[in-house]
Amino acid sequence: MSENRAVAYQGPGKVAVVDTPYPEFELKDGPGVNPANIGRKVPHGAILRTVATNICGSDQHMVRGRTTAPEGLILGHEITGEVVEVGPDVEFIKVGDIVSVPFNIACGRCRNCKERKTGICLNVNPDRPGSAYGYVDMGGWVGGQAEYVLTPYADWNLLKFPDRDQALEKILDLTMLSDIFPTGFHGAYTAGVKPGSTVYIAGAGPVGLAAAVGAQLLGAGVVIVGDLNEDRLAQARSFDCETVDVSKGDPRDQIEQILGVPEVECGVDAVGFEARGHGDGAATEAPATVLNSLMDLTEAGGALGIPGLYVTGDPGGVDEAAQEGSLSIRLGLGWAKSLSFTTGQCPVMMYHRQLMQAILADKVQIAKAVQATPITLDEAPQGYADFDQGAAKKYVLNPNGYIRS
Ligand SMILES: NC(=O)c1ccc[n+]([C@@H]2O[C@H](COP(=O)([O-])OP(=O)(O)OC[C@H]3O[C@@H](n4cnc5c(N)ncnc54)[C@H](O)[C@@H]3O)[C@@H](O)[C@H]2O)c1
Ligand SMILES: [Zn+2]
Ligand SMILES: [Zn+2]
Repeated sequence: MSENRAVAYQGPGKVAVVDTPYPEFELKDGPGVNPANIGRKVPHGAILRTVATNICGSDQHMVRGRTTAPEGLILGHEITGEVVEVGPDVEFIKVGDIVSVPFNIACGRCRNCKERKTGICLNVNPDRPGSAYGYVDMGGWVGGQAEYVLTPYADWNLLKFPDRDQALEKILDLTMLSDIFPTGFHGAYTAGVKPGSTVYIAGAGPVGLAAAVGAQLLGAGVVIVGDLNEDRLAQARSFDCETVDVSKGDPRDQIEQILGVPEVECGVDAVGFEARGHGDGAATEAPATVLNSLMDLTEAGGALGIPGLYVTGDPGGVDEAAQEGSLSIRLGLGWAKSLSFTTGQCPVMMYHRQLMQAILADKVQIAKAVQATPITLDEAPQGYADFDQGAAKKYVLNPNGYIRS
């Protein structure tokens, strides 16, 4: 029997469950590990037995071959686990704690961490500010779609759930705290959503739906979600969102039919660089579509929350410019309307504790909104395939049988 099993990227369109070593308190060489990180000691880390670990649209960008991810990379940045070992420098996290792991790896010691900008920690990734588990260009920290995973700077990063039994009972909601719930909430928050706001969210994938839940939690008046996937739009309608089908034409016109005016106060991009065009253009990829459309349909003085991911290198980009991450953005329009933009990784730690309280107090139903669907580790390749086909579900891997449904 192997010591650990994990989901690995195996080239465009392919993932497989592979045998892999049990983690140690040191970052070893392996696919995607930055040479400057090899041999890095992690006495401040904890080893977790995975309770739940989710498949994300961000993983799909890699699995579709749309990034420079190397083959063999162990995937998984959305992790909830039980602490089974702690390094000698860990003071407060204890064996037996059930914890949510922010997908951002952060040191807690650098200038950005001190300002709570944990998505751009300066000390964890030799390539650039910001890091994550199981992700291309993120330093090489091994992913958590596995039975066991190492989490560095445990006292700083891990969010302990107050009660073990309650945590396991609400695990399908709490597992969304590692990424999509804070990320969606951040999209809505940085788009300026307030009580009564009108909001357009492009994308009805899990992040878009989480942004819609976030907007409702912030008190939005009308939340409109756009996509071209009818099942996902139906999912948005199931919790009181209005919807627009962008394959039927420009969302601006459909927004006018809903609101009486063709603009909203707040715009959220929960799509990213693999965006399709609108109307007849929905059959093909047009990566600047959502950004340009949000600038068009957000009121002057408004704000755009942009959790949707944009890359610096895309081997499958529609043209040479897109392959370098250069898109044809109509910035003049955004400038003329004094719009604000918030991009980048969501600093999960800014929101996860409060969102946990909202879940534990039954104030929000995030698992239901995104249709959280547990599957086994061995079913991960099928989960990836179905999610790629646009299933209106958020797949939650259950590698150690903690989730009982
Ligand atoms: N910033 C962060 O910290 C962060 C965290 C998690 C995910 N993300 C990113 O958020 C994005 C969404 O994640 P997801 O898991 O929901 O992905 P997803 O691929 O499941 O969902 C994207 C949805 O956008 C739809 N879409 C495509 N073109 C569109 C258009 N023009 N208008 C409206 N909808 C359109 C697709 O049909 C799909 O349903 C991804 O780019 C992901 O990488 C960012
Ligand atoms: Zn994610
Ligand atoms: Zn830091």
